Amino acid sequence: MKITLAAGSALLKPDFVFGVATASFQIEGAADSRLPCIWDTFCAQPGRIKDGSNGLVACDHVARWQDDIELIAGLGVDAYRFSIAWGRVINADGSVNKAGLRFYQQLLDSLHARNIKAFVTLYHWDLPQYLQDNGGWLNRDTAYKFAEYAEVVTHAFADKVYSYATLNEPFCSAYLGYEAGIHAPGIQNRQQGRQVAHHLLLAHGLAMQVLQKNAPNALNGIVLNFSPCHAASNSAADINAAQMADQYHNQWYIQPLMEARYPDLLQQLPVAEQPKILAGDMAIIAQPLDFLGVNYYTRTVYRANSKGWFSDVPPTVQPLTDMGWEVYPQGLSEILLAMHQRYALPPVYITENGAAMPDTLINNRVQDTARVAYFQQHLQATEDAINAGMRINGYFAWSLMDNFEWAEGYVKRFGIVYVDYVTQQRRLKASAIALRDLFTSRKK
Ligand code: NOJ
Repeated sequence: MKITLAAGSALLKPDFVFGVATASFQIEGAADSRLPCIWDTFCAQPGRIKDGSNGLVACDHVARWQDDIELIAGLGVDAYRFSIAWGRVINADGSVNKAGLRFYQQLLDSLHARNIKAFVTLYHWDLPQYLQDNGGWLNRDTAYKFAEYAEVVTHAFADKVYSYATLNEPFCSAYLGYEAGIHAPGIQNRQQGRQVAHHLLLAHGLAMQVLQKNAPNALNGIVLNFSPCHAASNSAADINAAQMADQYHNQWYIQPLMEARYPDLLQQLPVAEQPKILAGDMAIIAQPLDFLGVNYYTRTVYRANSKGWFSDVPPTVQPLTDMGWEVYPQGLSEILLAMHQRYALPPVYITENGAAMPDTLINNRVQDTARVAYFQQHLQATEDAINAGMRINGYFAWSLMDNFEWAEGYVKRFGIVYVDYVTQQRRLKASAIALRDLFTSRKK
């Protein structure tokens, strides 16, 4: 099984960055050497995680990091995207956890020695529980705590980091965590979801100032998730519903960064359900970005509901991934080009793209043909967007290896490397081999 790109493809140019991605809570384990976080608490609540699992061991990456770096290097990547667990580097009294910092410093040194660029995410959802006990992201002060955390990390890592992203998918922290209640901390409250979104964006802006001051040579930005919002029918009501969903799920996070304002939809919300925005906040949020990270998985279809709001319609079109998400590669170029037309975007990196598939290990091999096809199609869509005039400088496969898929537990496998959770053995799936062959075929 092969992934092929046209000769002369922009993706084959020497400076295009190919990488693989992970996140701290999803792979690290070693929970006893960091502070508890909101996901530890959430996992301990019955019924929250489909398979009743947690992140205490995960892929045991903290113990196995050296082997994992060898694995990454063997794939021929240019870059590795991972996140720092806030509670592994800062203690509850504000002091620094030296052993935790050393863990990441060694990881960074080891990547550097192999000429692999480090793309570091500061916040991939594992807020220390002591901050949650103080109100979490509902408390404006958490945004300032985040900037202090960025100070510590940038001092400790100096110039070892190629790129910093402040937040990963703030939509998920705000909407899934505080409005839908399916992610930690599991709250269902519209106003709170919007307030949390605002404080996350504020945290991003404050941390961006720190990054640009302390790590001016790094590529500093943010990672957002996007999903094209399509109408379930041609009715005016459904078309309007899809436009509202787009404002709420996509534009809500990018427009403040690019234009220092929220979408018009905000004004249509009941005043009691609007976020509290202080004077000066929007200017802090709209710091210039060196790059925008885009995570893309699927599109979403919406219909109008009786409350004057929108509801998503489950996909009816095949094929679907193991998450039940439609495989819709043209949505990637569609959303990229729509944003390109609307905003003056900085260079874009596709910071996540991939698929959970029902992988089976047969004779120690996983023939994940559907995942290979998924990558082939989405790389093609990336190239289409570049050919249409966009600056896209890199692409990261999600994920390096199977890991803790949040509320879905370990049952959904997104890895290009198969993880046996009993032995912790890693095995390259056919998709890893196909990507490795593509990565190593380039003349650098
Ligand atoms: C986006 C998130 O950043 C990542 O943590 C998650 O595993 C993937 N989506 C797949 O759902």
